[in-house]
Amino acid sequence: MTKVSVNRKILVVANPDELSRFAADEFVRQAGQKMQAKGIFTVALSGGSTPRGLYTVLAGDQYRERVPWSKVHLFWSDERCVPPDHPDSNYRMIRELLLNKVPIPKKNIHRMPAEQEDPVHAAMEYEQTIWAFFHPNEGELPRFDLIVLGMGEDGHTASLFPWTSALEETDRLVSANYVEKLNAYRLTLTVPVINQATNVIFLISGESKASVLRDVLEGEYQPQRFPSQIIRPVNGRLLFIVDRMAAGKLARR
Ligand code: 6PG
Repeated sequence: MTKVSVNRKILVVANPDELSRFAADEFVRQAGQKMQAKGIFTVALSGGSTPRGLYTVLAGDQYRERVPWSKVHLFWSDERCVPPDHPDSNYRMIRELLLNKVPIPKKNIHRMPAEQEDPVHAAMEYEQTIWAFFHPNEGELPRFDLIVLGMGEDGHTASLFPWTSALEETDRLVSANYVEKLNAYRLTLTVPVINQATNVIFLISGESKASVLRDVLEGEYQPQRFPSQIIRPVNGRLLFIVDRMAAGKLARR
């Protein structure tokens, strides 16, 4: 796989709170733009502690009213294979931090059916949900307006973990990805559909991410080892919002 030039921007902010505020500002800006353009805003959200900060800010008094929630359609970038009220559920986390606090219609919430016994079936069902919602032109892929991603210390994003089969998926939109180190399946959007998005934002915070962020952004292209490197929107914008601690080992800031 060759490296392609990508419309990539890295924004280094002071701390996690500023990261969440910048991310919320970007979310509001993009939602407003899409409202103007087509009257709907489609976004896929991730789990993890860093993205949590964004959801908390968006549900807060300063931002809640600035998003046209009735026109926002929420999807998930990935999900643990647990029921929606399980402590590990990304849906539960986002419901508690955001969905319970903003006036988003239930019909606009497109949860991954990760409680299903068969994760492969669940992935196929969610894939159908995405196709049916976007119904793109023949030969085109569904195109999210925004996908919000975190990045793990191992360079994973969504549930695209190093050396896992989902990294090779080129046809499906959603994969049931067995992650050996977790001894568990995860549902995840695949590389093709993430790279089809108009905007992809990574939210990365903390010293523990400094080495892997340097490897991902400035190191050799090793997509199996650093799956976040595979995220390169084919015709969209890639924005890394990182705090100073996470950016601490970057040569170029
Ligand atoms: C998940 C997430 C995952 C997360 C990263 C970053 O289900 O855990 O989707 O991809 O975003 O692991 O998480 P932190 O921000 O907590 O490091």
